[in-house]
Amino acid sequence: MLWEICYCFNHMSKQKSIYSCQNCGHQSPKWMGRCPECQKWNSFVEERLVEIPQNLEGRTFHDEVTKPQSIQNISAAFSERIVTQVSELDRVLGGGLVLGSMVLIGGDPGIGKSTIVLQAFQAISSQKIPVLYVSGEESIYQTKLRAERIGANHPNLYLMSETQLENVVEAVRKLKPKVLAIDSVQTLYAAGLESAPGSVSQIKEVVSRLMYLAKREGVTTFVIGHVTKEGALAGPRVLEHLVDTVLYFEGEGGKAYRILRAVKNRFGSTNEIGVFEMTESGLAGVANPSELFLSERPLNTPGSVIVSAVEGTRPMLVELQSLVTPTTLALPRRTTIGVDHNRVSVLVAVLEKRADLALYNHDIYVNVAGGLRVCEPAVDLGVVTAVASSFLNKAVDAKTLFLGEVGLTGEIRAVNHVQMRAQEAFRLGFRRCFLPKANLKKLKKQPQMEYIGVSTVDELIRLIF
Ligand code: TYD
Ligand code: MG
Repeated sequence: MLWEICYCFNHMSKQKSIYSCQNCGHQSPKWMGRCPECQKWNSFVEERLVEIPQNLEGRTFHDEVTKPQSIQNISAAFSERIVTQVSELDRVLGGGLVLGSMVLIGGDPGIGKSTIVLQAFQAISSQKIPVLYVSGEESIYQTKLRAERIGANHPNLYLMSETQLENVVEAVRKLKPKVLAIDSVQTLYAAGLESAPGSVSQIKEVVSRLMYLAKREGVTTFVIGHVTKEGALAGPRVLEHLVDTVLYFEGEGGKAYRILRAVKNRFGSTNEIGVFEMTESGLAGVANPSELFLSERPLNTPGSVIVSAVEGTRPMLVELQSLVTPTTLALPRRTTIGVDHNRVSVLVAVLEKRADLALYNHDIYVNVAGGLRVCEPAVDLGVVTAVASSFLNKAVDAKTLFLGEVGLTGEIRAVNHVQMRAQEAFRLGFRRCFLPKANLKKLKKQPQMEYIGVSTVDELIRLIF
């Protein structure tokens, strides 16, 4: 009897998982450091063997979904959304949470992932929608403490401290919440797998089972994952293709504001960003990011220039800073933060060749103030002006905006959303705008604002300095 049980147990555990080389697909019942087939190191990952039902006719699950249906008979109710009422979050999600979808929120530890989810949960539960927040990191008392800070206390908000996936699934089946949060995916484990919680195979298993739960029970799921900037270590990157929406929470160390960015969204645009400020009582949405980003800028200082970046549908004014200093290095330094390094190198070369600025024996630093990243060509003109301003040690007027893409021959090319960008600048008190000549014609002009169309970098430098 005993040996039978032992045998079964052994047999089961052997059958349950297998290790596969992620490079060549070689499989082995044991983990190996190096693949005997393709010789790759560290490529073995534990995978679960899924039992496939022998009798496919016997499958009743999802019958109505798997049958082919005419597109006209399918109702669009599937795309119904729950509005979280955290407006910046709704904006990034594309107008709320799609029912039954799965959202991954990644970000460095301490950035505010747990806080934003709890805030959204408070708002959702006040719409009489039951929600369940599962924390594998904190006890329910610790979560309650945090909840008190942000004023989350609705009776429809359920808390649970759990690390085993099976127990979470059972709780969801019993409680039937409409929205579920897992904080964090690295702490959860599926009992059938041998690998430790947080390992790639555990994370994949946990998320694919939660996905199944989400689609089958119609539970909208938030999954929180720690990730470093390099995407290393924690591994939620491997999940990006599994989930519907991937949001990244970013922020600069020591600064109170945070940026929520969608890097994948099956139900909305990936261009929108949400801007938050961390306060004593949770995250507060920032409706006017330009004001925030410009609040600390030095006025009339060489090297500081204002440009406009459009994120989704929202123009944001940001400050570009440049520092140009003489150097004795054979290879002068070119350091950029927040703007593309190669792009800046090209623009510096254009300045040297087309505007006769002798930058070759200078170190050049370019930085987007406030930790924002801008990667639009429309900021080219701002970069060129900031570098020239620092090099010539002449300040640019503080109420001037710069828009335009710069080409290799020094020509200034038209950019998009000029109307919107100029409007935002006007609203914030800007009274002068340098822009591509090609954009000038179609623009609806404000009488109090001066629009100066330029066609080459050389012309611009001569006009300003
Ligand atoms: P948290 O949501 O725990 O971050 P994550 O889940 O991404 O690790 O946020 C933690 C930080 O936020 C912590 O440094 C404390 C701070 N905080 C506030 O400043 N105000 C608040 O109201 C709350 C809840 C947290
Ligand atoms: Mg947390």
